[in-house]
Amino acid sequence: MKRLGVLIAGLDGAVASTMVTGAALMRRGQARPQALLSEQFKKSHALAGFDQLVFGGWDVVRENLFEAACRNQVVECHRLQPIRRELSRLIPWPAGVDKIATFRRQHKLDSVVILNLLPTGANKESKAYARLAARHGCPFINFTPNDCAEADTIPYCGRDGKTGQTWFKSVLAPALRGRQLEITGWFSTNLLGNEDGKIVGHPVKGRQKIRDKSKLLGEMLGYNPHHHVEINYYPPRGDNKESWDNIDFEGFLGLPMQIKVNALYRDSILAAPMCLDLVRFMDYAHRQGLRGPQTWLSLYFKAPYNCPTHDFHRQEHLLLEFLSPCAAG
Ligand SMILES: NC(=O)c1ccc[n+]([C@@H]2O[C@H](COP(=O)([O-])OP(=O)(O)OC[C@H]3O[C@@H](n4cnc5c(N)ncnc54)[C@H](O)[C@@H]3O)[C@@H](O)[C@H]2O)c1
Repeated sequence: MKRLGVLIAGLDGAVASTMVTGAALMRRGQARPQALLSEQFKKSHALAGFDQLVFGGWDVVRENLFEAACRNQVVECHRLQPIRRELSRLIPWPAGVDKIATFRRQHKLDSVVILNLLPTGANKESKAYARLAARHGCPFINFTPNDCAEADTIPYCGRDGKTGQTWFKSVLAPALRGRQLEITGWFSTNLLGNEDGKIVGHPVKGRQKIRDKSKLLGEMLGYNPHHHVEINYYPPRGDNKESWDNIDFEGFLGLPMQIKVNALYRDSILAAPMCLDLVRFMDYAHRQGLRGPQTWLSLYFKAPYNCPTHDFHRQEHLLLEFLSPCAAG
């Protein structure tokens, strides 16, 4: 059986610990594979099964994954008990150390994918992990808003996971455009109480995230309505974020109308399956001998590299076309 290594920068974080927990629960049949687009291509494209993934990675915290999952409070504690031993065995390496060759050898891995889940703003550190990926010929996924300077010798994708509010914006805006309903204003606000919320809710540290969330509207519409995006750090909600969108638009004869969207999301529960999809798809790209930015994976990102379009349905079409049986050869 083939074995795929998954090395995560930020292994003790909320998204990473949810991803590892989810894979362990699905492997044991204690959770169904839900919210995973890759699942439908598993057989046709020989994507890695959850029993073929071997996790590892780096963190400055160095808690084992059971401790990290408990602290992050994303998955309920009682669901962690059956996988406690497995999670406790996984301890991150110290930040930045290069143990990739040993990891490959020890676990008899056929391939290794590197996933960047560092905090927002860790640009220098993100670049160092991207360089490590290039040095070892590993596909690289940048799920963060950070700059990475990816190398064209490996397949890479990013930037900044398009999980909740921005994903829905990229569904709704093209629908209004399709009816030629002119958007006059779009007001987006968020409550988020996890570690990432502490950073992205900061007026200076969160600037890149606000830029990523703001830019795509004008690009999808072809004009720039008044667009306000804000993120508020609000600890009582933890990982369970809330977003509001108010969309002002004009119809026939210039008469104004509004749409209100109030979403109660879970930050890491949206992000973790997307990261699992990306790992499987990037391993596929690597096996196909692809290099450089993987634009067919744009639907996963707020600011995709070499962005062909921000429109979610067009992005979905790109992915489906890329994976269609004829294209798969
Ligand atoms: N959850 C979502 O919906 C979502 C969406 C888009 C993007 N993202 C991005 O994903 C990233 C991770 O999010 P999260 O909620 O898991 O954040 P988190 O703060 O919970 O996790 C980040 C982890 O990185 C570790 N870390 C810090 N410096 C390090 C270093 N030099 N080397 C190794 N590890 C280091 C921290 O100790 C922490 O455990 C963030 O950049 C976030 O903006 C998340």
